[in-house]
Amino acid sequence: MEAAASEIRSPPPALGVRPLSSALGAEILGIDLSDDIDARMFAQIRDAWHQNLVIVLRGQNLSEEDQVRFAEKFGPPAVIHTKQFVRNHPAVMLISNVREDGKPIGALPDGEMHFHTDQCHQERPAMASMLYALEVPRAGGNTLFANGYTAYETLPAEIQRHIDGRKALNAYDYETAAMKRGTRPAPGVPSYAHPVVRTHPATGRKALYVNRLMTVRIEGLPAQESDELLTILFDHQERREFIYEHVWRAGDLVMWDNRCTLHARTDFSPDERRLMRRVTILGEKPV
Ligand code: SIN
Repeated sequence: MEAAASEIRSPPPALGVRPLSSALGAEILGIDLSDDIDARMFAQIRDAWHQNLVIVLRGQNLSEEDQVRFAEKFGPPAVIHTKQFVRNHPAVMLISNVREDGKPIGALPDGEMHFHTDQCHQERPAMASMLYALEVPRAGGNTLFANGYTAYETLPAEIQRHIDGRKALNAYDYETAAMKRGTRPAPGVPSYAHPVVRTHPATGRKALYVNRLMTVRIEGLPAQESDELLTILFDHQERREFIYEHVWRAGDLVMWDNRCTLHARTDFSPDERRLMRRVTILGEKPV
C-alpha cells in the first residue's frame, strides 16, 4: 500500500559542518539564528555540538532575544549573580573591558585569563556558555578551547587510576581572579567540590574536570601531593595539540560545552575595545 504524500516526511536538509581543528571545534554553516530553527534542524546542531564540543556560527546579527531563544533550546539559562553587568534581558550578561563613567560595563577581568570551566565553583555548573561578539580587538583577546576528553584519555593509566573517584575543590574569587590561583581561597569565596573526572551525560565519555584558575586542591591528598598532581594535570590538559584557538570577528556566536572543555583568553591591548554578550545554560550536578 502506498503512503499518502502527507505521511511522507522529507529528511531535513543536511547541516553544513566544517571542522576547525584536529583538537575540537566546528563551524556550522548556513544558519541564521535571528530566524527560528525547527526541531529537526536543532537536533542536527545539538549533535554537531556533542561531536565537536565547540560550535561557531559566523556572521550573525542577533538581538539579545535571538541569542536567548537559541540558548533556551539547550536548557534553561543560569541565573546571573553579577546583575550590574546585565543591560536588558535578565539572561544576558556583558563580558567587556569597556568602562563607562569609570566603571566596567562587563564581567570578568581584562586581558589574559587562565584556563577554567564556567561556574565549576557552584553545585550545578554551567552546561554550556555562549558568547556573541559585538566588538573585538584588532589583535589578541582570542579564546582558547581545550578538549577535556582527550586530556583524560591520554593520561597514563596509573594517573587515571589515581584520580578516578576523587573530588577536587573549585573556588572563584570574583574580586581577584584572572591569572591568580591559590591553595587557600579567602573566607567566603564561593566553592564546591566536584569529581576530578566527570562523565558526560549525553556522550558517556569521561573528561578531566580540573582547571588552573579555579581548582584549589584534590580532596583526601596531602597538600604537597595535591599541588604536584594538579600541576601535572594542568600542564597536561593545556597541551597545544588539545587546543583550538578562536580568533574572533564581530558577529561570531560561539558555544562551548563546559562538561568536556576548558577555555582561556589571550591578552589584548587595554586601548582596544572588546565587547561580548554571554548567556550560560544551567547544567546538572557533575558525576
Ligand atoms: C569566559 O571565560 O567566559 C569568557 C572568555 C572570553 O572572554 O574569551
